[in-house]
Amino acid sequence: MLAPPRTDLKSLLAPIASDMAQVDAVIRQRLSSEVVLINRIGEHIIAAGGKRMRPAVVLLTGRALGCATAEPALLAAVVEFIHTATLLHDDVVDGADRRRGLATANHVFGNPGTVLSGDFLYSRAFQMMVDAGRMSVMRVLADCTNAIAQGEVLQLMHIGDPEVGEERYLRVIELKTARLFQAAAQLGAIAADADEPRQARIARYGYALGMAFQIVDDLLDYTAAPEVSGKSLGTDLAEGKPTLPLIHAMKHGNAAQTALIQDAIRAGRADRMREVLAAVESTGAIAYSAALAKRYAQDAISALGEVPDSPHKHALIGLARFAVERAH
Ligand code: IPE
Ligand code: IPE
Ligand code: MG
Ligand code: MG
Repeated sequence: MLAPPRTDLKSLLAPIASDMAQVDAVIRQRLSSEVVLINRIGEHIIAAGGKRMRPAVVLLTGRALGCATAEPALLAAVVEFIHTATLLHDDVVDGADRRRGLATANHVFGNPGTVLSGDFLYSRAFQMMVDAGRMSVMRVLADCTNAIAQGEVLQLMHIGDPEVGEERYLRVIELKTARLFQAAAQLGAIAADADEPRQARIARYGYALGMAFQIVDDLLDYTAAPEVSGKSLGTDLAEGKPTLPLIHAMKHGNAAQTALIQDAIRAGRADRMREVLAAVESTGAIAYSAALAKRYAQDAISALGEVPDSPHKHALIGLARFAVERAH
């Protein structure tokens, strides 16, 4: 039997196509610097594209809640800059060599220039958010950027530690990934002048979407096809990162499987990928991770309950489905 068609991101985002073109224009315009290396690194990672999911969340929540101004495009570009800065830094930390179908910036330009250009993008994002002129926007983004940094450092502390369980794993992904999606959704609501209770409900959508998104990302690190994903895979195991597939497999595997995975986490055994994957599969860890991601996606959709029906709301629902069905 044929598998059902996967949700296609491009058609999903059709209701915000012109807004997204505006976001691209803002990104291009604000990327530039008098320093050549910053331009080259910025161009390298931005020209490669990316799914633009976080800007899409800002635009869709803003429009779904009735915002008719150009403000969401500026906020969406800010969020994409923050995301891109985290990717530059993350690929240095993870020693990754592929991103968005290209060699990573650290691979092409080296670690020092990549880290410093990430700082440029972060601080440019802060300049841009000041232009928005709203204290609430600055608070949301300052808190979320700080949370991402904490998440990445917390994750670093978990490297090589097979004692990390599901709860500590969930805390890392909340901080490093879900908070930015949460901020994206809240910014849309702020641009629509929604009151705080409404902002909090829409923020819940972003949070749950982000949790689903990262659980699936961690699953895809084991199961994706490299040509489809466009980025380095297997790096989580190579680094000894205790993500959900391993955590579940250690808990439910037999003694040999548990020992194998503990050793792989302690020593970062990329060379044991085949055996580890077999253990992950036979303990049901893939199905478990996929089911948990689905639960978060369902939570995200439920959080949209009071949002009036519109093509934008439908696209938000579609994004939650895409987050769990995606192959890239
Ligand atoms: C990658 O995010 C980093 C994670 C939080 C997993 P995306 O998968 O959204 O990256 P791009 O922007 O589409 O390249
Ligand atoms: C997401 O984690 C990183 C950030 C939130 C910065 P990963 O390390 O899993 O992201 P990928 O897989 O490299 O895109
Ligand atoms: Mg990474
Ligand atoms: Mg990953």
